[in-house]
Amino acid sequence: MEWIIFFNFTQKTHIMLKKNIESALNKQIRIEAESSQTYLSMACWAEVHGLEGIAQFMYTQSDEERAHMLKLVKYVNERGGHATITDLKAPKTSYTTFKEMFEALYSHEIFVSESINELVHITFEEKDYATHNFLQWYVSEQIEEEATAKSILDKINLIGDDKGGLYLFDRDIQQLTVTSSIAINPK
Ligand SMILES: [Fe+2]
Ligand SMILES: [Fe+2]
Repeated sequence: MEWIIFFNFTQKTHIMLKKNIESALNKQIRIEAESSQTYLSMACWAEVHGLEGIAQFMYTQSDEERAHMLKLVKYVNERGGHATITDLKAPKTSYTTFKEMFEALYSHEIFVSESINELVHITFEEKDYATHNFLQWYVSEQIEEEATAKSILDKINLIGDDKGGLYLFDRDIQQLTVTSSIAINPK
């Protein structure tokens, strides 16, 4: 009988996740995983084209997205839900130009922000303020990621077709990687 007493002691007292919140969070887990794969694929494309700085930046982005995914996974499991790991949509493997690749990164981040907003909206409707609060980190993170992607695109537009400019850009983006690594905040 002792184990029953033990079980009662360890039973979580907080409110469990509602099913629709759990599935919305699982959807986001998949999006973060797909983002990680997309940036990993971009890193590979850049690396085989000799763009080492850009490749390093993309590898770091990929790691960050995995950290975003894990933070959600742990939250779902800790709240009495079940984080489900699924198959993923295969990312694009090649790009015509590095500019096209960064445009894809920027529009992907906008898509992720919209998805986070939708998720926040659901938590509000369901009065799940704990999840609502948890998601605020993602809201700020998306503002930052969109801003970074936008400023990179602005720089690329300034460079245009200048090869020397691309060389400097590839070198400078490594510095940006160092800065964004500090910003990673996995739980
Ligand atoms: Fe993310
Ligand atoms: Fe992102």
